[in-house]
Formats: sequence, C-alpha cells, structure tokens
Amino acid sequence: MQTKSIRVLFDESKIAARNEDIARAVAASKPHDLLVVAVLKGSFMFAADLIRALHRAGLEPQVEFVHMSSYREATVSSGQVEILKDVESDVRDRDVLLVDDILESGRTLAFAKDLLMARGARTVKSAVLLEKPGKRAVQIDADYIGFECPDLFVVGYGMDVAHRYRQLPFVGVVETEDKDRKEQ
Ligand code: IMP
Ligand code: MG
Repeated sequence: MQTKSIRVLFDESKIAARNEDIARAVAASKPHDLLVVAVLKGSFMFAADLIRALHRAGLEPQVEFVHMSSYREATVSSGQVEILKDVESDVRDRDVLLVDDILESGRTLAFAKDLLMARGARTVKSAVLLEKPGKRAVQIDADYIGFECPDLFVVGYGMDVAHRYRQLPFVGVVETEDKDRKEQ
C-alpha cells in the first residue's frame, strides 16, 4: 500500500512574515491607483494574505483576477497561453501588481505583463510566492519574491497536484512511502 505524506518546505509563520515584508516593499514604492491582479487558480491564498498585508502597510489596492492556462509541449519551445477569465477593470495609467504562486518558465507572467502593458497600464510589477531558479523559458524576473524554491513539485497554500492539496496552509512536497515494502 502507498501512503502519501507532505514534507513542509515553508511553514505558515514563515510565509506570513514574508508577506508582510513584500507588502512593506510594495508600499515603499508608493504605487499610484494600485490594482492587484491575482493569477488564478494557484495564487488565491497568497493573494488573499498579501492583499490584507498591503492593507496593514497602508495601501488601498483594488483587486482583480485573471485565469490563464498554458499549454506546454516538450518539443515546442514557445508555450501558448490562453485567457480563461480576463481582468474586468480598466488598467490604463494604473500601477498593476500581478500576483502568482510560482515563477517557473515565466510564460504565464510574461504573457499577462505584456497584455496589461499593451492595455495602457502605467507599470506592471509582479509578486510571486516562489521562484524556481534556472527554469526560465522567457526572460522575466519577478519584482517581489517570497522564497527561492528547490526544483521540486510543490503543493499547498493554493497550489495543487491533480486538484489536491490547495487547502494546506503551508507549502510542501508530496512524498510517497511504499508501506508494504517497508514492512517486508
Ligand atoms: P510558468 O512560469 O508559466 O511555467 O507557470 C508556472 C505555473 O505552473 C505556476 O503558476 C503553477 O500554476 C504551475 N507550477 C509550476 N511549478 C509548480 C509546482 O511545483 N507545483 C504546483 N504548480 C506548479
Ligand atoms: Mg498558476
């Protein structure tokens, strides 16, 4: 029988402290007419906590959501990104903060950034909870990064594997133990 356990990488208190740091850094940049755009689905928990931290840092952001899906084919270097749910507000002349869970290939964030700039945003910055270094397919750096993430598939704090584990209040790695083998 296989049982799954989660090894914690970043716990609740570490994440909470980092969110306050990021919020203070965003506030220090004195954004104009700030619009936070959370990239669904994986960023929902990070965004919810970060937005409240932004409030504590003295900001009054408006909040929007985009939902994008990216198709990755191992043989094709440029992945395609499709918009499943678009931003509803006008972004013209506004400072936008894109919020995402992980920056990996960078395709999702680069696509969203280009789109919002093309619509006339004044600036588009990005905050990601995790960054996996060395995995970039397109040139983009996040302006605010929670933690550098080891090259592992992580779950929790909004992130899933096959729709599971989004509810976890921490970020971890799924580990599979083969119980039968252990008991032999
Ligand atoms: P990319 O930067 O366009 O490759 O997109 C990164 C997206 O892939 C993230 O927003 C996540 O939704 C997903 N992703 C990448 N790595 C992981 C992981 O380790 N766990 C869960 N989702 C991941
Ligand atoms: Mg995502």
